[in-house]
Amino acid sequence: MDRIVVEGGVPLEGRIEISGAKNACLALMPAALLSEEPLTLTNAPLLSDIRTMTALLQSLGVEVSGLQGGHVLAMSGASVDNHTADYDIVRKMRASILVLGPMLARYGHATVSLPGGCAIGARPVDLHLRALEAMGAELDLREGYVHARAPGGRLKGADFTFPLVSVGATENALLAATLAEGTTILRNAAREPEIADLARCLRAMGARIEGEGTSEITIEGRDSLHGATYPVIADRIELGTYMLAPAITGGRVELVGGSRELVAAFADKLEAAGVDIEESADGLVVSRRNGPLKAVDVRTEPFPGFPTDLQAQMMALLCVAEGKSKLEEMIFENRFMHAPELIRMGASIDVHGGTATVTGVERLKGAPVMATDLRASVSLVLAGLAAEGETQVKRVYHLDRGYERLEEKLRACGARIRREPDDG
Ligand code: EPZ
Repeated sequence: MDRIVVEGGVPLEGRIEISGAKNACLALMPAALLSEEPLTLTNAPLLSDIRTMTALLQSLGVEVSGLQGGHVLAMSGASVDNHTADYDIVRKMRASILVLGPMLARYGHATVSLPGGCAIGARPVDLHLRALEAMGAELDLREGYVHARAPGGRLKGADFTFPLVSVGATENALLAATLAEGTTILRNAAREPEIADLARCLRAMGARIEGEGTSEITIEGRDSLHGATYPVIADRIELGTYMLAPAITGGRVELVGGSRELVAAFADKLEAAGVDIEESADGLVVSRRNGPLKAVDVRTEPFPGFPTDLQAQMMALLCVAEGKSKLEEMIFENRFMHAPELIRMGASIDVHGGTATVTGVERLKGAPVMATDLRASVSLVLAGLAAEGETQVKRVYHLDRGYERLEEKLRACGARIRREPDDG
């Protein structure tokens, strides 16, 4: 296993290109199951989660080519011959459940392993299942698998209200509804940019969808979809993470391909903390030349609110901001695993349930640290960039799930960061 070693204290200066969005790509890839014709995604990120979804689709019979160093992913659902998503792949990544809706919609039956809990919380899939049931699916949960069947071989359009906002459940229902008989209305749908990206891609494949980006999406089912070539949207969480790099170290970095509308609520908080953000011809420029950072309160919410996927990274910044900041995590019940590790670096943080109170300290100090999820791990890299001395972040495989060429991108801005083997 590898570790990342960061020597802190260098103000970052330079340009970072934002990659395609992991979470958009993970929802777009299962769309290949909806058509006999090929779906080609451009601007796909080179990440281990994308390789896991590739392996899952291949196990179902989807032919996948590309992505060896390039960012093009060509998928053909012409010869899908297996309708069971096996536990061995699904357990690696919760987004695997997104093959259920499209498989059921196209073949009338599908069997998918239940993904189980994960480090950040229990994360059930009941909403995915309830939306599909509303479309007529008959579900049987046996031996850790969902066995799903559409009576008569086809799902039926439905008017369904999500009892709470779920990104994944909205995506699964949207994918399924494109081939259902009749019209589906999804109410209280998630409004994340990744949902809008999925809707645009499905429309390029011939689907009839209206209202994406709002909480009510209407889908008129088609008999079949055709192939398409579609570019994956920029990764707003990678964007937000790298916006924090010059914010926490001081300096100035241009985020190429970024746009404010992708991270508006987050950008507002960053400005309130004393960071400058300007739009440029190629993206966004973030800088902090002088002056201390100031405490701000943050509460995570579904889009367009402050994203839970940037809470850990924001906490790293607030550890060195003057005053007391309150962070409330409203989406997941166990998403403060980075707090004890940041405390090991000298931060002052009190966690009570879903609320963390951070009292800014003048400086963090390097330490060996480790986290159990992707965003927590990257928050430790950010803390390490600002800390005095050397920080070693262990369990780098978490970072490889969501950050393409992390060390290379940061090094290009002057960061002293490297990857090395870790036997400990
Ligand atoms: C997506 O997860 C993202 N993953 C997550 O990013 C992100 O944190 C999350 O949305 C919230 O923005 C992908 O897109 C692959 P949800 P998802 O369904 O779809 C509860 C990262 O770091 N819920 O919107 O699984 C759930 O437990 C990852 O990149 C149910 O109760 O999130 C949570 O409390 C981590 N029943 C809330 O809803 C369900 O059936 C929102 O979860 C589904 C969800």
